[in-house]
Amino acid sequence: MSDKPAVACSGLSCVFMGGVSALQDVSFRLPAGGLTAIIGPSGCGKTTLLRIAAGLERATSGSIQFLREDGSTQPLRAGRLTVCFQEARLLPWRTVIDNVALPLELAGVDRRQRRARADAVIQAAGLDGTQRRLPAQLSGGMRMRVALARTLVTNPAVLLLDEPCSSVDEFTRMQLDEEIRRVWQVSGATTLLVTHSVSEAVFLADSIIIMKRAQVHCTHVVSLAQGNRDRTTLEFSREVEQVMRALAHAAGVVTR
Ligand SMILES: Nc1ncnc2c1ncn2[C@@H]1O[C@H](COP(=O)(O)OP(=O)(O)O)[C@@H](O)[C@H]1O
Ligand SMILES: [Mg+2]
Repeated sequence: MSDKPAVACSGLSCVFMGGVSALQDVSFRLPAGGLTAIIGPSGCGKTTLLRIAAGLERATSGSIQFLREDGSTQPLRAGRLTVCFQEARLLPWRTVIDNVALPLELAGVDRRQRRARADAVIQAAGLDGTQRRLPAQLSGGMRMRVALARTLVTNPAVLLLDEPCSSVDEFTRMQLDEEIRRVWQVSGATTLLVTHSVSEAVFLADSIIIMKRAQVHCTHVVSLAQGNRDRTTLEFSREVEQVMRALAHAAGVVTR
């Protein structure tokens, strides 16, 4: 049983100034300690959803909250939630270790403690030896891994990942997916992964929320066990095909 909280999103709507409706009555639950993916076309509201969860944007109505076991809710607290955005967003003038330690610095943790903690997550991410490098001295994939290591440094209860692999090649994506799985498993965090890759969603998620134009179209529960996600198997391809069909249906595309 996970000690991390479940999350309930209820009737969430967001209308921006100028009348763009980015989210319309979106509801779902993230099980405690689970990994849920959200997939949907560009502009369907995925980033807006994450920004509202992170307190960076205000909902017009509805809520996204921690859900206790007794069914009561409490507001998401910034200190217990971490977001990893599409770009690594590292500070270019800071070394890898100082980038990873930044959330601890902002939380007022003393220098020795934060460096020790940052060093531990860097080593666990297989990035040992890069501590003193600057972001410009790393590949795109490595920068993303540093960003993922940074999400772990505060031991978050909820992890929100916004298309973390969107700017890397297919090979690097596969490596990053392994890293995302490790980050999720090590942290035990209740995780929401936004992706536009069906195979990434099937590889990582327990269930996949398929969105279309500001709304949830349907949810697909992945039937493969977490320990049995091999992209080269027929079972994996079948699962991908099912999600593809749901996506095509959401997009109004006719399939055979
Ligand atoms: N700050 C904003 N002001 C006005 N419209 C916005 C703003 N942020 C996003 N939008 C619009 O809201 C919709 C959803 O955007 P977004 O959440 O970024 O989608 P996604 O992440 O799924 O691509 C889009 O039509 C986008 O143009
Ligand atoms: Mg987005």
